[in-house]
Amino acid sequence: MARLYFRQLLAGRDFGTDNPVASQMQNFVYLIGDQDTRECVVVDPAWAVDDLVDLVEADGMTLTGALATHYHPDHVGGTMYGFTVEGAARLIARTPCKVHCHRLEAAGIRQVTGLSKSDLVTHDSGDKVKVGGIEIELLHTPGHTPGSLCFRLKNALVAGDTLFLQGCGRVDLPGGDSEEMYRTLTTKLSTLPDDTVLYPGHAYGGESAPLQHVRKHNHYLKIPDLQTWKQFMG
Ligand SMILES: [Fe+2]
Repeated sequence: MARLYFRQLLAGRDFGTDNPVASQMQNFVYLIGDQDTRECVVVDPAWAVDDLVDLVEADGMTLTGALATHYHPDHVGGTMYGFTVEGAARLIARTPCKVHCHRLEAAGIRQVTGLSKSDLVTHDSGDKVKVGGIEIELLHTPGHTPGSLCFRLKNALVAGDTLFLQGCGRVDLPGGDSEEMYRTLTTKLSTLPDDTVLYPGHAYGGESAPLQHVRKHNHYLKIPDLQTWKQFMG
């Protein structure tokens, strides 16, 4: 993957530095692309979209699309807790492109962002999005929301709010499902090799780490059965 272009950007630190809410939320945005063809996509464009596009352009790359892990406004833009976050709608206004998401997440994304059907490309689990010669595999990982996606590139997993270095995404928000999350963690993410590097959607407990490390230190991955999980998650 010598051609891989990959950047992890922390909102409030690497972009959107004048937004105190961005610093509090600790969202990560990712740029993934092909160094040869100079094309890239942005994962979860939010908070300061013009800063993100400026960073892409400063690297001599061209933005060809966006990938959405899930429909929460801190990842795709929208209003939450009375605060409006800039997101995918601003991206499309500046750089016309499509937003890729899971088919179960499309309605939610349209609702929070105001995007239209034709702005989205909907997917099923296992689909691949090609950026130049780089292939990104989409894994459906429901639990935090019904259509949450993780993005897999060889030995990297961009996990959105499904899994953090410490903890996993909340399941008590609308669309959250505790049992689905348990299945995602124990039957889907558990099959990934130990050397897969986790790149989470928030800097909760760290910025990135191999799954081998996360499996040792993240308590949420050590719960033995669904019964205990349900008690633990309330
Ligand atoms: Fe979320």
